[in-house]
Amino acid sequence: MGRRRTDLARLVTYAAAAFPGIGICSGPHESSTASSVIVFGLASAHLRQPTRVPIPEDDKGAHLIGQNRSSDEVQLDKARNLPTSNSTSRLTTTKMAQEYVWLITGANRGIGLEMVKQLLQSPSNVVVAASRNPAKATELQELAEKANGKLHLVVLDVTDKESINKAAKEVAGFLGGKGIDYLINNAGVVLGGEDTAFSLDVDVLTKTFVTNVAGPAYVTQAFIGFVEKSEKKTVVNISSTMGSIGSDFGAIGASYAISKAALNMLTYKEAKEKPDITVISMCPGWLQTDMGGPNASHPVSVGVEGVLKTILSLKSENSGQFFNFQGQHVPW
Ligand SMILES: NC(=O)c1ccc[n+]([C@@H]2O[C@H](COP(=O)([O-])OP(=O)(O)OC[C@H]3O[C@@H](n4cnc5c(N)ncnc54)[C@H](OP(=O)(O)O)[C@@H]3O)[C@@H](O)[C@H]2O)c1
Repeated sequence: MGRRRTDLARLVTYAAAAFPGIGICSGPHESSTASSVIVFGLASAHLRQPTRVPIPEDDKGAHLIGQNRSSDEVQLDKARNLPTSNSTSRLTTTKMAQEYVWLITGANRGIGLEMVKQLLQSPSNVVVAASRNPAKATELQELAEKANGKLHLVVLDVTDKESINKAAKEVAGFLGGKGIDYLINNAGVVLGGEDTAFSLDVDVLTKTFVTNVAGPAYVTQAFIGFVEKSEKKTVVNISSTMGSIGSDFGAIGASYAISKAALNMLTYKEAKEKPDITVISMCPGWLQTDMGGPNASHPVSVGVEGVLKTILSLKSENSGQFFNFQGQHVPW
């Protein structure tokens, strides 16, 4: 285990040194179980000129209120022409009348939970937090108590069709005819650790696919009616640059990487089939969660803030594309 960590650390250091100035989008992820260690991806900046999602002046971070941000981060946003905390607060106030509904899978911890927290900072957002076991999701329950009806907790296991269908019925009940503006397929697993094409266990590959590919496919099928009747009509598949051939992350993390590459194709197919909705793949960055591990390059709050800014800035022409949390295109 120690040697494995050292090897991965060396690889990340190599990537950062080889491509100075790039954002490392996802890095060696260690799950809480000793056997599963993985994976990393890199933003595409070394492969092509970064292309950011254009952020319209009147829509910059409209549903976000700034986090506790360092002056460096604020300066960075200014440099990128992104909103700072003060400007987002002002914009939030002016947009209060408009409500947007978000549904997030895997919302009980990690990136999903952080999305819920950040979205609830604006009264513009209604959030449906889906998780396998909301009864044990104490942080979600605490948030729901203070959310004045803006946070709904539903049971949803992305590997279980019955659970997904039941959740869709429940959501129809409390949304009362409203749509879902943003469907975020966030739930995901890393089961294969550092496996490779020639060492992977096909049962592990299959299980990884069931959660990371079939799960988002079926959740989107079940909820597409809600998305289609919303204003924003947006589906976000949380992927990873590990699933990007163009980012070239070598041999390891095969089961996870293959599943995320397949998820990216699902994004493309969904976008092609339904041009009236906006579907993207999104790499949230290498973030400090149970999956990303404590040594990940960014706190979860930073990655999620970037993810939300990018989502809020999407245009219909971005459908079928792959972005990272810095709003840059990731190559397939
Ligand atoms: N963290 C990173 O550095 C990073 C980098 C690139 C991409 N990503 C992607 O970002 C997403 C979230 O990652 P994370 O870092 O937040 O991971 P995490 O901390 O391990 O959390 C995973 C979440 O997915 C949920 N989940 C797993 N299987 C599920 C199922 N069958 N049904 C419903 N929920 C399920 C978990 O719920 P339980 O608590 O019930 O297990 C948990 O809420 C994943 O898709 C991951 O691949 C993460």
